[in-house]
Amino acid sequence: MRTLADLGDLEGKRVLVRVDFNVPLDQGAVADDTRIRAALPTIEELRRRGARLVLVSHLGRPKDREPELSMRPAADRLAELTGADVTLAPAVTGPEVRAYTENLHPGDMLVLENVRYEPGETKNAPELAAGLAELADVYVNDAFGAAHRAHASTEGVARLIPERAAGLLLQREVAALSGVLEDPERPLVAVLGGAKVSDKIAVIDRFRHVAETILIGGAMCFPFLAAQGHGVGASLCAAEDVELARRTLASGDSGRAELELPVDLVIADRLAADAPALTIDGVDVPEGKMGLDIGPRTAQAYAAAVARAGTVFWNGPMGAFELEPFAAGTRAVAEAVADAPGTTVVGGGDSVAALQRFGLADRVSHLSTGGGASLELIEGKRLPGVEALA
Ligand code: 3PG
Repeated sequence: MRTLADLGDLEGKRVLVRVDFNVPLDQGAVADDTRIRAALPTIEELRRRGARLVLVSHLGRPKDREPELSMRPAADRLAELTGADVTLAPAVTGPEVRAYTENLHPGDMLVLENVRYEPGETKNAPELAAGLAELADVYVNDAFGAAHRAHASTEGVARLIPERAAGLLLQREVAALSGVLEDPERPLVAVLGGAKVSDKIAVIDRFRHVAETILIGGAMCFPFLAAQGHGVGASLCAAEDVELARRTLASGDSGRAELELPVDLVIADRLAADAPALTIDGVDVPEGKMGLDIGPRTAQAYAAAVARAGTVFWNGPMGAFELEPFAAGTRAVAEAVADAPGTTVVGGGDSVAALQRFGLADRVSHLSTGGGASLELIEGKRLPGVEALA
């Protein structure tokens, strides 16, 4: 993978930088600027080297040119964070936008409009890729969060600009996540939570072969418990997930990792902050109740496994942590990950949100900005946005 160090003299060159400014908004303003901050090292280095920057990103999944999905709030936040002027282009491509790029001075930044305003983006349309390529002399991809998408701004355009490289964030993400799989300090412990087994089955399969221990939490534990014959009551538990869990459990010793499931649970009759929460010592959920967090004995055991690990990968909360009565399991895992002496890598929006909520986000070795992209890399898939930089 070519990096910024491989690019030649950038003074006065127009550099198209694919960033992932797909950030949450609240009433027209950026609610969490983590992804914008994460792109700053690349942006600042390119500006220092005298490049003229053309930044391109998607925001949300617009069906049309919804004004509420304009890049305006992200461009404004970037201006605040850099203390520099940032211009928002009136569109994504075209003669007017091209004129804007030609009028940039070294160090100037132009943010293109939401690239998904163009239907050709998600189709990886050659016309859109060519329109983007006209705006730049050099292409840099720093959008790790979108690197699993073969879209015009992540894949098509890269192939049209011979002078191309990965940005610093993309490079760091790939190194940290590949490091978990390739040569981890042992034991390697994977903590996997979240709602659905089907979303994570490929990740579980991969860790079956490379990790020593897999700790399962979140609603994802119920298909496994159901497959073992436990009652799951009204817990989230899709039939197809039970089948996947059954197959994973039946594959027995085919992998190297030990798969651990909860031994106790926090249950309630509904998912609400005021629902009376009850801890049960065991994993049989009575009819009409739902499991909403791992119990304290499980949390303690999982925290101890994390503390002993040489490397930890964590994806997915242990329960409905947004609601205080069901937050303890996720908090215990988050604290254990923060305190762990080993290398700790956390991927996926929900676990990152949990760390932020508990004020622990700066206490892990690597916090991924990619949800789907980090999982696909762990699954062993090739990321089109990375491949196109070869
Ligand atoms: C993300 O938020 O995971 C990335 O920005 C990708 O967004 P997408 O799932 O809409 O492609």
